[in-house]
Amino acid sequence: TAERSLVLVKPDGVARGLVGEVVSRLEAKGLRLVAAELRTLTAEVAETHYAEHQGKPFFAGLVEFITGGPLLALVVEGPRAIEAFRALAGATDPVKAAPGTIRGDLALEVGENIVHGSDSPESAAREIALFFPNL
Ligand code: CMP
Repeated sequence: TAERSLVLVKPDGVARGLVGEVVSRLEAKGLRLVAAELRTLTAEVAETHYAEHQGKPFFAGLVEFITGGPLLALVVEGPRAIEAFRALAGATDPVKAAPGTIRGDLALEVGENIVHGSDSPESAAREIALFFPNL
């Protein structure tokens, strides 16, 4: 019944020293760490990861931001891990994200919303293969 999700602590979260806070929250929830790596993305990996947003007005800025410094890539596992992490993260727009969520408590701007979590089993499989091909 275990499901896996790709979680990113984005460059803003790493730069602000929020790695411990994010990992602490997801571990406290009961999600288990399967893989973790601090790395700076190439434009190619960033564009592949965000392929569904290609053509949107914020795409160039998104790629620039996500490649702008080291991020922490994680694979987490647990029952309904995808939905569970998205609930912890809160809405994409941090101003609309509920207090108590990572974005609701810690972020203010949609472009700098600290974390990413896979949004479906298909995305999770694609994203985990992109970030951790040996998993
Ligand atoms: P994420 O869950 O990583 O998936 C796509 C990202 O695009 C999203 O988080 C936001 O950080 C970013 N994003 C979505 N809408 C906008 C926007 N209007 N301006 C800038 N970034 C955006």
